[in-house]
Amino acid sequence: MRRKIAILISGRGSNMLSLLELRQQADFPGDIVLVLSNRHDATGLACASQAGVPTAVVDHKQFPDRESFDRAVSDVLEQNGVNLVVLAGFMRILSTWFVERWQGRLINIHPSLLPLFRGVDTHRRALEEGVRIHGCTVHYVVPELDAGPIIAQAAVPVLPDDDEQGLSARVLAQEHLLYPQALRMICSDLVMLQNGRAAYKTSPCREDAIKALRSPTIQP
Ligand code: GRF
Repeated sequence: MRRKIAILISGRGSNMLSLLELRQQADFPGDIVLVLSNRHDATGLACASQAGVPTAVVDHKQFPDRESFDRAVSDVLEQNGVNLVVLAGFMRILSTWFVERWQGRLINIHPSLLPLFRGVDTHRRALEEGVRIHGCTVHYVVPELDAGPIIAQAAVPVLPDDDEQGLSARVLAQEHLLYPQALRMICSDLVMLQNGRAAYKTSPCREDAIKALRSPTIQP
């Protein structure tokens, strides 16, 4: 089934832009049909419009509770024929209702090597803990925050003189590579949610996996 994709954002949308580049790949088996934000002032919305992608805003402040907001978002997604939801800096905690409705069709990118550093301020916390490796994770979304099955991860070194800004920039550069790769794999039916795990149809051969770990450490 060809995926009709919505990207959900709340802010600058740099991951969204890296995902929109997939549209330039003639063999990308999916269509990005909508960028949706909970904020009118999300910088990424203007970028999406400029790139010719339909946009929508569902303002969370207009709803009395989390679930009614989520139901309104879900309605907009369904009206647009969406069957895969990609969170890219969407700063709302989603209700169990929404997560269950979109189960297996809802993914997120998180700026840490999960299960380390769930939640916010991941780069600051990584520096405080003195970890030597940090990174990002693409995962299926489950009701528990940042706890869903891991699809792909990319790691970066933490350097002795790193500050939060430098480390986050190094991780973000990897996010921009990892998320499109992961989305492409999902749209190509090479990875799917099975028994609470991300199951791969094909896995990289041993040598490729080791090579990937040596270079920019992008590893499904
Ligand atoms: C990224 O760090 C992403 O991992 C996190 O939120 C941030 C969004 O940045 N979920 P951007 O809006 O994609 O630039």
